[in-house]
Formats: sequence, C-alpha cells, structure tokens
Amino acid sequence: MIELIDVNFDYTDFKGEKKELLKDISFKIDEKERVVLLGINGSGKSTLLKILDALVFPKSGSYFYKGTKIGKRGFKKISRSFRKEVAFLMQDPNMLLFNATVKEEIEFGLRQFGFDDIESRVVDIAKRFGLEKYLDIPPFYLSGGEKQRVALASLIAIEPEVLLMDEPSANLDPPTTGWLVDLLNDMDITTVISTHNLSLAPEFGDRVLVLSDEHRLIFDGSLEEFVENRELMMEAKLLHKHRHKHGPVEHTHFHLHDWE
Ligand SMILES: Nc1ncnc2c1ncn2[C@@H]1O[C@H](COP(=O)(O)OP(=O)(O)OP(=O)(O)O)[C@@H](O)[C@H]1O
Ligand SMILES: [Mg+2]
Repeated sequence: MIELIDVNFDYTDFKGEKKELLKDISFKIDEKERVVLLGINGSGKSTLLKILDALVFPKSGSYFYKGTKIGKRGFKKISRSFRKEVAFLMQDPNMLLFNATVKEEIEFGLRQFGFDDIESRVVDIAKRFGLEKYLDIPPFYLSGGEKQRVALASLIAIEPEVLLMDEPSANLDPPTTGWLVDLLNDMDITTVISTHNLSLAPEFGDRVLVLSDEHRLIFDGSLEEFVENRELMMEAKLLHKHRHKHGPVEHTHFHLHDWE
C-alpha cells in the first residue's frame, strides 16, 4: 500500500547550510498493517509522517501510494482521493482545528468529500468520541486532550484507509489513552503512529520502524526484537540516564522504566 525507496529529505537553513532530516529511508507497509514509528526528539518522525501525508515531498528517492508515485508533479490530479484516503493527526491538534464550533469542525471534512446524512454522521461520531456536550463550543475553548479527540473525530468521520498519527497520546490522560488504543484496535485500517514512549508502542502495533538521531532507519521489525537489542536501543537513544540517590550514595545508570 505504501512504499518508500531511498527517500531523502533536507532543508536549507537561514545560513544557507543544508541539513539532512531523512537519509535513504526505504520500507513497505501493507494494507491494514499497524506500524509504530520510534525515534527521539528531532530524529525526523514528524517529517517522515509529513512525507507519507504528501504535505512535503522527498528531495530524492520515491514514495509510492497504492502504486502511484507521490511527488510534486501530478499530485493535484490525485489530491482529492489521496486526502480522502489518507488522514493525518498532527502532533499539535491546533493545526487541525479552524472552525467556529466542534460540530462544524466534524462536518467540514464530511462536506468536503460529499458525504450524505451529515447530521446523523456527526451525532454518531460525537457519541463515539464522547463529544456530545461540546458540539456547540468553539474548539479553541477545549483542553489539549479534548482538542485531540475533536481533531481525531473529524478525521475518522471521513472513513480514511490510512491513519497517520504523530504522538497521539502526548496530550491524553491514562483513561483517554486506553480509549484511544481500544478505538484503534476496533478500526482495522492501516496505521502509522509515531511515539517515543516505549511503554505505549506495543499498544499501537507489533512492527516498529526506528529512526536514529542521525535520521537513518536503523531498525524495521518486531518491537520485541528491538527492545532486546541493547546496542540498537543505545543507538536510537531510547534508553535514558539519570542520577539516583539512595541515602548518601548517588549513582547514574541507564533506564528503561516502561518496558516489562
Ligand atoms: N522546515 C524546517 N526548517 C528548519 N528545521 C526543520 C524544518 N523541518 C524540520 N526541522 C528540524 O528537523 C529536525 C527533525 O524534525 P521532526 O519534527 O521531524 O522531528 P521529530 O522526530 O518529530 O521530533 P519530536 O519527537 O520532537 O516531535 C528537527 O531538528 C527540526 O528542528
Ligand atoms: Mg515530531
């Protein structure tokens, strides 16, 4: 369904220096696969998801979606069907909320893509996402987690085939995170979810793609295999180190609090 071949992405900063953000990234994702994208801050997770959502295009290499090459040239022709099929929950939900009320927010995509029964669809989706009481409120007034739910509800309303999510649990409390995991389990669509939270990774999928801080794909395989490989974990810097005090004794060692 999705194939990246030797994808590179870079940008030129204000000093005119070229910075590489993704280096020679290749992978395939099958229909209905659930993939977790792991990497530390700045490794390129959001950039990679933006490429998968065709918000930016590879500088070199190729991106194929259902066999069609996705690039600047020719994208206009397929953009409508692509935008209907591929949904992207951005890291910051504020980027996705621009309507006057939650109801209009959810209606927006449904109208754009010509759905019928918009009223009843909004009611259904609001119920599913626990948003009934917010329907007439501006999204702007909501908490971070509530905004996240509105943004996700608006995306799921248009019944996408691929759901890209950038750190979806960052704003969510434990019960809402549990609810999100259940929702995703019930959906049975292709998902690519970025996180640097190893304890949540197994809830989002069995296959992990791991980006290093050098912006390379250093692992593509099962999560279990990855966490057992200390060298790769160190390279990905997904272990953390901090000081401990036990009475008068202080020492430092690596941690992986969240994986059992
Ligand atoms: N257009 C741009 N101009 C300047 N810097 C950029 C641009 N796009 C990305 N970057 C830089 O590229 C690097 C990778 O960014 P990206 O947002 O993809 O990382 P990330 O893995 O999603 O990080 P996080 O976990 O913090 O969300 C960062 O250092 C970021 O500052
Ligand atoms: Mg990011």
